[in-house]
Amino acid sequence: MSTFDAVAADWDMQQRHINRTKAITEVFRKATTTHKSMRALEFGAGTGLMSFELAADFAEIVMMDNSKGMVEVMQKKVAESGLNHLKPVLFDMETHTPELGLFDVIFTQMVFHHVHKTNHMLEALGKILKPGGILAIADLYPEDGSFHGYGFDGHLGFDPEKLGQEAQKFGFSQYTHQPCYELPKAMPDGSTKNFPLFMFVATKAAGVYYHCLSCDWTGTAEQVEFDVIETCMGPDKTEMCPKCGSLDVRER
Ligand SMILES: C[S@@+](CC[C@H](N)C(=O)[O-])C[C@H]1O[C@@H](n2cnc3c(N)ncnc32)[C@H](O)[C@@H]1O
Repeated sequence: MSTFDAVAADWDMQQRHINRTKAITEVFRKATTTHKSMRALEFGAGTGLMSFELAADFAEIVMMDNSKGMVEVMQKKVAESGLNHLKPVLFDMETHTPELGLFDVIFTQMVFHHVHKTNHMLEALGKILKPGGILAIADLYPEDGSFHGYGFDGHLGFDPEKLGQEAQKFGFSQYTHQPCYELPKAMPDGSTKNFPLFMFVATKAAGVYYHCLSCDWTGTAEQVEFDVIETCMGPDKTEMCPKCGSLDVRER
């Protein structure tokens, strides 16, 4: 059971969630070039606030979350709105790689600080993006721990520059980042503190990608190794997975 199950039903009644989403969506639109024919994924969609804002911008948006409560709220909202190109999916990206095909765009707001292995997540998200695809992450700049308070086991924000350097290790060629919102939050002493958020946008390197059907490795044409096999026409070079050595490697 996810801790977010308990807050799912009331999530959209909190005006601060709506205000934040609208501001982040506006910066997302300015920071990215997208098209109505594109397929998008919202990772950690919650109740799908950002996906509903962007509903007219994409041909399909898969709204993924690992909280059953959040996904049930999204299913109800889709049924009520008739926006059937918004597709709620119950899924944990930290433990599984989804079989959902490739996406042109992945966007996520206020989720990355809950992800334990962020490098693993950058790699996993890179694998399901098309070459040239866009990853947009809105999250907290480094903070002193007062955002969640005592007992939180996630990240106390991020330096987006470091996030970009990590992303480059997983096939992202370019990145930009900018401040996108000041999130007001009530503190235990009754005061209100503003937490700055950033919008980070990285582009997956264009080019030819290969996928190993045996071990699920994905990489660029330059990373693929070769083996020589005998054919009726004589020796021939064939692609070989650099991770497991399988010859079951296909171009994506
Ligand atoms: C702070 S909430 C933000 C929800 C939504 N993005 C919004 O801004 O309204 C974080 C969300 O990320 C989801 N989440 C956290 N880790 C996840 C994972 N590994 N896979 C899928 N969803 C995850 C949680 O269930 C929760 O709905």
